[in-house]
Amino acid sequence: MTSTAQAPQSGSGSPHPEHLGHVIFIAAAAAMGGFLFGYDSSVINGAVEAIRSRYDIGSATLAQVIAIALIGCAIGAATAGRIADRIGRIRCMQIAAVLFTISAVGSALPFALWDLAFWRIIGGFAIGMASVIGPAYIAEVSPPAYRGRLGSFQQAAIVVGIAVSQLVNWGLLNAAGGDQRGKLIGLEAWQVMLGVMVVPAVLYGLLSFAIPESPRFLLSVGKRERARAILAEVEGEHVDLDARVDEIETAMRREHKSTFKDLLGGSFLFQRIVWIGIGLSVFQQFVGINVAFYYSSTLWQSVGIDPTDSFFYSFTTSIINIIGTVIAMIFVDRIGRKPLALIGSVGMVVGLALEAWAFSYDLVDGKLPATPGWVALVAAHVFVLFFALSWGVIVWVFLGEMFPNRIRAAALGVAASAQWIANWAITASFPSLADWNLSATYMIYAFFAALSIPFVLAFVKETKGRTLESMG
Ligand code: GLC
Repeated sequence: MTSTAQAPQSGSGSPHPEHLGHVIFIAAAAAMGGFLFGYDSSVINGAVEAIRSRYDIGSATLAQVIAIALIGCAIGAATAGRIADRIGRIRCMQIAAVLFTISAVGSALPFALWDLAFWRIIGGFAIGMASVIGPAYIAEVSPPAYRGRLGSFQQAAIVVGIAVSQLVNWGLLNAAGGDQRGKLIGLEAWQVMLGVMVVPAVLYGLLSFAIPESPRFLLSVGKRERARAILAEVEGEHVDLDARVDEIETAMRREHKSTFKDLLGGSFLFQRIVWIGIGLSVFQQFVGINVAFYYSSTLWQSVGIDPTDSFFYSFTTSIINIIGTVIAMIFVDRIGRKPLALIGSVGMVVGLALEAWAFSYDLVDGKLPATPGWVALVAAHVFVLFFALSWGVIVWVFLGEMFPNRIRAAALGVAASAQWIANWAITASFPSLADWNLSATYMIYAFFAALSIPFVLAFVKETKGRTLESMG
């Protein structure tokens, strides 16, 4: 992305109501990438045990096959900005849509384990692209007065994508008689789970033809008239369009494109602010949030909850995730990012520590005894709620706004890649750690949640109410 990915804070940004509806459609269409991000990254949850039994593999291999998609995500995130700067934001979305589609088909019909892993990497690449292009495009087409609210569509779409994937998995599992390998339309249920993603992927591709290219990209390639027309479409005819075009062009001339080199500085490879972005990303993942979404079915089955019920609880945690996200969207501009992050960290420590306590009990007749079993379920929901109302939304908000204009795009790419790598480290290590000691594993996640408190207090600056130009 160019460093003008965010519109200036000032400006004549309020569209007429009839334009606002159109802008909401544009942002929602672009946020389909977020939906696919959430759907694709958590759909695997319903297929884990089937993959283990079909290919007769142990925990470590299974974890690699699941986690390998995340390496694709890291590479996709690192390259999306460059691709979008070269061929445009819409083309970038179309490439992601094609990759999502072929990976859905390929991973639903694998002829070998390595083939499945290959298609998951391709899907991962698309997720990584979507994780960067969605927020950047929405920021670029949004009228300044609505940019914050429209930008939050991305995380909202991610959490809805996660919930829908759990619901689809649960429905398919029921239809297949509670067996992940039960037959449905000539395929095993888990194959259908992975293949269903073709639907949103194709929809994403089609919607991308219905939304305009970013005016900022068009100006960067000299298409002034087209850019002006799109600004009229999103902001309305009543604004002084020539002045808006001049304003953006002047900002673009002032800020050269950010490159990897601009991030370097100080004696620790990156500038301090880049490290803080990486730190936020790593803490967001090291509390183990995605264990709750990628492995919850396995987790609940391992403590004696029956398969269909465990799918149901995966779905309820997704609903709690959506509720928490809405709470965050209401409060993020009112009480600020830092207080929300701290409240979230405290709640996560409590939830994770309770889970660790519950999992420390020995199974009786293959099940957790009644009290710890009940506590484990409630604690998992408490943890997800506090994550969602804090670190889920806030980290993406911080990453979008905390960097100085000059390095924003490149720094965001580095931090997003770090987030995918951290996600990979947690996802890849969970099955082996859980085999070793589930309770201790949850203590480790609780430890990182606790450590995030001094990290925020010492290093993170509040960004609420500040202009983008005053960051850094
Ligand atoms: C955030 C995280 C992502 C996680 C999601 C859960 O978007 O970046 O890894 O799956 O929240 O809601």
